[in-house]
Formats: sequence, structure tokens, C-alpha cells
Amino acid sequence: MCGIVGYLGKREIKSQLIDGLRELEYRGYDSAGIAVMQQGSIQSFKAVGKLTNLDEKTKNFQTKGQGVGIGHTRWATHGKPTELNAHPHMGEYSYVVHNGIIENYREIKEMLENEGVHFLSQTDTEVIVHLFEHEAKRHDDLFEAFKATIDRLDGAYAVLLVSQKAPDTIFFARNGSPMIIGKNAHGEVFFASSDAPLIGEAEEVAYMEDGTIGYATSGKIHVEPEPLQFVPLAGDKMTAQKGGYRFFMEKEIYEQYQVVSDAMIGRVLDDDIVFEELDDAFLEGISRIKICACGTSYHAALTSSYLFERQAKMPVNVEIASEFRYKDPLLTEDTLFIVISQSGETADTLEALKMAKEAGLKTLAICNVDNSSIVRLADATILTRAGIEKGVASTKAFATQVMVLWMLTLFFAKKRGTMSDDAIRNELLYMSYVPKDLKKSLEVHEKCKRLSKRYLHGHGFFFIGRDIFYPLALEGALKLKEISYLHAEGYPAGEMKHGPIALADAELFTIALMPKTMLYDKTKSNVEELSARDSTILSISPEMFDLADDFILTHPHKHPMLEFFEMMVVEQLLAMEIAIRMGNDVDMPRNLAKSVTVE
Ligand code: F6R
Repeated sequence: MCGIVGYLGKREIKSQLIDGLRELEYRGYDSAGIAVMQQGSIQSFKAVGKLTNLDEKTKNFQTKGQGVGIGHTRWATHGKPTELNAHPHMGEYSYVVHNGIIENYREIKEMLENEGVHFLSQTDTEVIVHLFEHEAKRHDDLFEAFKATIDRLDGAYAVLLVSQKAPDTIFFARNGSPMIIGKNAHGEVFFASSDAPLIGEAEEVAYMEDGTIGYATSGKIHVEPEPLQFVPLAGDKMTAQKGGYRFFMEKEIYEQYQVVSDAMIGRVLDDDIVFEELDDAFLEGISRIKICACGTSYHAALTSSYLFERQAKMPVNVEIASEFRYKDPLLTEDTLFIVISQSGETADTLEALKMAKEAGLKTLAICNVDNSSIVRLADATILTRAGIEKGVASTKAFATQVMVLWMLTLFFAKKRGTMSDDAIRNELLYMSYVPKDLKKSLEVHEKCKRLSKRYLHGHGFFFIGRDIFYPLALEGALKLKEISYLHAEGYPAGEMKHGPIALADAELFTIALMPKTMLYDKTKSNVEELSARDSTILSISPEMFDLADDFILTHPHKHPMLEFFEMMVVEQLLAMEIAIRMGNDVDMPRNLAKSVTVE
């Protein structure tokens, strides 16, 4: 996703900005740009592709002395990744960078065009700078003009704006997209989308809240409506990057509401799903889907198989990539071959993708890492936009994979006419609740911490669930086993009586996923069977269950996917707290690697 940096101070501004953008590269981008103002004149440079292209364009440019600058890495949402669409966007005398999406940009653009404003790009962002200059004609004070501009924007934004009419000032605003401001004893002020560019530069930082607006100028930072709470920034990159959390895994669990919302930007509209990555020609002739993946990504795939078949009425076949490779699979050209991978480097998944390409199938990668081997090889890619995931046990990457797959299901359902417009609109409404609900799900953290002490022994865990809660059970068991080293298995709840129930006794822990919106009574009967054999039951459900030894009450929801995402968070937190109590390094569990590039 887009990254923003800003700098006010005496250092060489271009390098300061580009070095900062380099720290944000992990967010993914397809073009980059900077605008630098010194002694009242602005220079701007943009380049498509990697930052080395921007380095090349700016190699003969340097600044000396006090000035301001803003920089941006863009991940295209409105308009293709071209130089014209790259940020900063300019008006007659001002430049802006923006992260997020301006939902009402069309109406603002129309209003400005009627006044004779000429637009250069296809982006939503460009309206901000022209609107600012429009407001500047009506306000003597430029900050008032900036406030009036921000006031008219609907949507998510982190904005930095510089103007020749206020040569030593950076205006800023945040709503829904991250922005951090930093300062130090030398009077320098820094802005960035995450901590990374500020480490070693700023001594103190403030994490802006939604609704924050202000400006920074030499020796002064003015903020409304509340003053900013500056806190010291750790100089050690690792500690600072953990942002106050004990482990990266914990931080990544807490980031899920944000990355899931990033995954939706530009793709989920009020009554439509858009994937610019997939054109009609690409989808022509496709009537079935095969998905290959490993580990957690395989669980995301399995989850989606229920959705694709139920909603898009497409036959779906999901395979573990290492199995697929050696079975002489039958591949037909009406099959869309999807691979799912966080890293984009998993050897088995990559090889499966090669086989599908050789067989002439159309291939789609759902991946978190742009330019990875899998992305480079696939015919089309949907990036999941989870940001860099450092914890070896995947959390936020899984959340974004499932989100993208749910979106893709609805995209196909619409194309194939298997759901009515109303039904799709309804799904999209529920989908729009996910980020907020994910934040609310974290309330259960304390409870998981307390409960964890009871689950440090025993001879094993069964995570059980039905339908999409079966792959979620598999994922819960995988999370627990990989970081706690306790034996855990995921099972379809209805399958326990066909064998595994023989293991039931008080030392067998059953983690029962009991959503109210899906097969509640059926799952309940299965849990009762285990309880009757004295298994210790932890039920995760919005409804109290008499026979449970422990329970984690989830919020009532009206849609299974909302229950799915909440239970996902519970499983992650529970696994993490058990592992922490056992004294394990949850970020780097024994025997595991983040990117499995061997067979
Ligand atoms: C588990 C985990 C692994 C990966 C698997 C595939 O927490 O992270 O199971 O999901 O190794 O990796 P990717 O998704 O990078 O292909």
C-alpha cells in the first residue's frame, strides 16, 4: 500500500525523503515521487517502478539549508501506475501526497472542472491539491483553506501538502490511513506512514488519531483538535518496529483490522467489487477453479472453496501443493489455476504454478509480496496488501488472504450472475463491518491470557468446526502447534465420531468453534459427544454452552464470515498466550522458516 514521508529541516532533503521511502518499500508500490521546496521554489520528480528509478532521475539534484519536502510510494487504486498518476500531484503552486481513497472525488472534480481547473491524472488524490487552491482564494489564512479542503473529503486519507505560498510549512491531516509525526532536538520534523523511516531520526513521535489536522513550520507544530501525545521512539530498530508489543506476532494480530481494510481499498465499493487485476478476456472460458497452496495459505484456500461453490457456483478443487506436484494431475483448460502464498517464494507452490503454466492453464497468484517469484510467473496477481509479516506464524497474511478470496468469490458471483445485486450488496455491507469487528475482537485478549495457563499440559488438542469453520479449526491447530510445540489437530466436527473420539478423556482438550450463524445445533451435538467422553471443552461461541469447561464468548454477528474473523483472532491470541507462557519465542519457533524455498 502507499507510503508517505515528509521532512522539515536543514539536511539534504532529497536523500532524506528517498531513504525514508526505502524504509516503506515493504508496503508495496508501483511508482514513487518527491516534491522539495527551498527558498520558495518547488521541484518535483516522479518515476514508475522501483526507487532506483527515482534515484536515477534525481541524481543531479541536491538541496542545501532549511527546507521542506514530501514523498510518496504509490500503489495504484484509481488509474494505472504511470508517471502522471504518481504522487506528488500539483496544482498551480502546491503539491500533495495522499494515502487512502477519496470516495467523493468525482463530485469534487466535476465542481472544479466547471470552474476551469484542468486535471492531469486519473487519480482521486489530485482533487485535494486543486480544492486547496480553490479554497485558498476564499481564505486569507492558508491553514483555514487546508481545513476547508479536508472538511470536504469523504473517505480515508493521510495527506501532506506543501505550497509555495507558505514556503516553510507542511500541512497534514489524517483520517483512516496511518500517519506518524516525529521531531528531534535539532528542530527537524518528520512524517511517515509507519515507524520504520523515523527510527534513528526522530527522538519523539506521535501516532495521529483520526480527525487530526495541523501544520508544521520551523520551530512550531500546530495541531487540532487535540494536542499530540509525543512518546519517545526507541533507537533500536527491532524494538521500535515492535511498536510496544512483546512480539511481532502480537503486533501483526493487532494490525489485522488495518490490513484487511487496506486489502479492500479500491476493490470493494458500495455495490460492486472491482479487481483491476482481472480483465474479461482473462476470465473467458473459465468454468472451474483449482487452488494450490501450503500451510496457512492452504487453509485460506480451503475456506474459499466453500464460498466459491456456495456463492459463485463454481466447482473448486483445493490441493496441498506438495501433493499436487507428484500425482500426475489432470488439468483442463477451462480451469483457472490459483496459487496462494504469503511469501511468493514457497518452492512447492511455485513448482505447482509452473506445472499449470506448462499445461496451458490461466494462472492467478494471490500473494503478499510483489515481485516475488510466484508473482513474476503468474499470468495475473492479486496482492493481499498485508504489509511485511515478520512473525513466522502467519496471522495478518491469512486474514488478508481470506478477505481477498471472499471478495473474489463475490466478483465471480456477479460476473456469473449467481447472486442477485441485492444479495451482493448485502454481502458487501457485512464485509464493510470486518475491519471494525476485527478491532473489537481484540477485547478478548485478556481472557485468552488468563485461560492460557490451563492449557499447558494434556495429551493434545482437537480444534473442531464445520463448514468454513473446519479450515479455521485446521488453522487454529496449526497456529498452536507451531509456536507452543503442543500436539494439536484440526478436524471437521462431524468426523470426530469416526475415529478420533477414541482419544477423548479429561486430558484431551477440545477447542470447539460454535458459530451461531452456521450449523450451530449440528456442531453442538458433536461437542456433546466429546463432553460425554469427558474431553475438556473450551467453546468459542456467542452463546454460552452448559457442557463447556471454559468458554470464550464472541460477539453476536449476523454473517458467518464475521464470526469467522472474530474466531480467527481468538485462536491466534490463545495460541500466542499459551506459547508465551511456555517460554517460547513465538516470532521464531524452532525448526520453522518464514519462507520455505526447499521442497
Ligand atoms: C504457518 C505458516 C506456513 C505457511 C506456508 C506457506 O503459520 O506460515 O504454514 O503458510 O509455509 O507459505 P506461503 O504462504 O509463504 O506460501
